Amino acid sequence: MKKIGVITTGGDAPGMNAAIRSVVRTAIFYNIEVVGIVEGFKGLYEKKFISLNSRSVSGIINQGGTILKTKRFYEFKNKQVRETSYQNLKNENIEGLVVIGGNGSAVGAYLLYSEFNFPVVHIPASIDNDVYGTDYTIGFDTAVNTAIDAIDKIRDTATSHERTFIIEVMGRDCGNLALEVGIVCGAEIVIIPEIKFEIDKIVEEIKEEEKKGKKSCIIVLAEGAGKAEDLTKILKEKLPDREIRYTVLGYIQRGGKPTYLTRKLATIFGSKAVELLISGQYGYMIGLKGEEIIYVPLVEVVNNKKLPKFEYLDIIQKMSI
Ligand code: F6P
Repeated sequence: MKKIGVITTGGDAPGMNAAIRSVVRTAIFYNIEVVGIVEGFKGLYEKKFISLNSRSVSGIINQGGTILKTKRFYEFKNKQVRETSYQNLKNENIEGLVVIGGNGSAVGAYLLYSEFNFPVVHIPASIDNDVYGTDYTIGFDTAVNTAIDAIDKIRDTATSHERTFIIEVMGRDCGNLALEVGIVCGAEIVIIPEIKFEIDKIVEEIKEEEKKGKKSCIIVLAEGAGKAEDLTKILKEKLPDREIRYTVLGYIQRGGKPTYLTRKLATIFGSKAVELLISGQYGYMIGLKGEEIIYVPLVEVVNNKKLPKFEYLDIIQKMSI
């Protein structure tokens, strides 16, 4: 293998830059040329290629976002668009591709591999931690820490004013981010999309907590389960004597300096991805199971849904007595 490409696609996640750096430097270590594809699959379709060397990735291990830029590019669902993209790779003499991104990126990577037999390896990167086959995605730990920081601050107001706070976190249709944040922020209630919530149960829980002397309450709501604004309105009607407020954390969860765990995962995943391509093993996602780095066939990744850690709900309930 003489030349490979690296691309970041879908939503940006902290640690993408650390992964790009690792891919580039590992490839150069093995005397392989690296081409950066700018703006995700859109850039692949539009031939936006740049040459990367060891210095192009200097000083980015600590930066959020992605130096290669990224786009949501729904047109990649179109076979004709993928055909052109594949031809662009061939014309550029790119012999292997490392795709860094979340679930949508895994699907794109899988299609390039399965339809054109193109050598592809996927690195899971998403703040949602919703990619099947890996315990953690790059960026998740950073997003959790960002949310912790924000909720710790909100707690000051919740306690001082004896208020109920609903905090909406990202995660698309997956509750992993909400659960992880909820368990470490000491939330009384966590609402996730995988379990239909009953408003009367939540009201009961808040009343019970009040009886136990808890005057403030933190509810973490996953965006996929509903809108904080709507839930606040409903709760205000049911609990007119309580002061209820909400905060949507939004995009602050996507940005910022990657944490220790995010950088470490990104650096190891990036290096392993290149080594997998060199060894002729294609169509895999690099993943983490416990302490072990694993290679998961992309066909499994794209055909399964990652389930949240439901057992956390039980612990959260026990912690709120
Ligand atoms: O997948 C990451 C994520 O931030 C989700 O949590 C969120 O639902 C979505 O992306 C937002 O997408 P966009 O950046 O396209 O608005």
